[in-house]
Amino acid sequence: MDKQNHNQTLDGKNIIVIGAAGLLGQSFVRQLLHDGAKVTLADHALAAAEQFASELGVSSDDTMITHVDITNRQSLEGLIDRSRSQLGEIHGVVNTAYPRNKNYGRVFEDVEYQDFCENISLNLGGYFLTSQVFAKYFARHGGGHIINIASIYGVIPPKFEIYRDTPMTMPVEYAVIKSGLIHLSKYIAKYYKGKKVQINTVSPGGIFDHQHETFVAQYQDACLNIGMLQPEDISQAISFLFSPAARGVNGQNLVIDDGFTL
Ligand SMILES: NC(=O)c1ccc[n+]([C@@H]2O[C@H](COP(=O)([O-])OP(=O)(O)OC[C@H]3O[C@@H](n4cnc5c(N)ncnc54)[C@H](O)[C@@H]3O)[C@@H](O)[C@H]2O)c1
Repeated sequence: MDKQNHNQTLDGKNIIVIGAAGLLGQSFVRQLLHDGAKVTLADHALAAAEQFASELGVSSDDTMITHVDITNRQSLEGLIDRSRSQLGEIHGVVNTAYPRNKNYGRVFEDVEYQDFCENISLNLGGYFLTSQVFAKYFARHGGGHIINIASIYGVIPPKFEIYRDTPMTMPVEYAVIKSGLIHLSKYIAKYYKGKKVQINTVSPGGIFDHQHETFVAQYQDACLNIGMLQPEDISQAISFLFSPAARGVNGQNLVIDDGFTL
């Protein structure tokens, strides 16, 4: 990776990206390295994370790549141990994993009770477990910052009209998971008062990923200027939140959505 023109706001700090092989995760890794951090790339899909890191041309002085499953406590504790021993004390973690089962994404009437429970458990349960493991760790080790990736659909109910004439919908599990995640993060912020545990959520609007063109046009109508966003529109905010400039931001939900939720 090109080390010219690096911005050093994160200055050698070890930051863990969980879901590092994903659409948003890859962008977070690039931005954090650009801003001077050491980055631990963690994902359930280890081969995809390794492939991404080799394309990026990262150096083992600044990065490590490792497996993690956010629904498994031992896996999360192992991630902390490996990251700390290879890249030094952990400054923060951003969780952008997206676990879901094969039936995820059905229209409301077709969602089975078992699938509803399983998806809440994998996703909101996984974010709970990750936040719990890291918050406990940070409280014992002088502090740290957890950023959970929520969504505009944790803030407002769906605008179902933007899915008209497309095969897409907004799953009910997603609304429950993301609204729960925003409140969970505020709960943890208050619980750890005085322990230097910073925990915030970032709620992106829709990220362009070659979705159905009718959807893209209808989505744009619900926004102010831009419509669907690029991953880079989110990653710079992640870097800011991990920087000293954001030390007063705690228990907050940062919405980045070109006005979609207005
Ligand atoms: N893409 C969007 O438009 C958008 C908009 C708003 C919010 N979000 C949120 O951002 C986050 C990331 O979205 P994305 O589009 O980058 O998803 P993605 O599917 O591209 O990437 C998610 C990553 O999570 C990993 N993962 C899945 N299960 C895991 C587990 N149990 N443990 C560890 N890693 C696991 C996957 O291997 C994958 O690399 C999600 O929480 C999503 O809800 C996305």
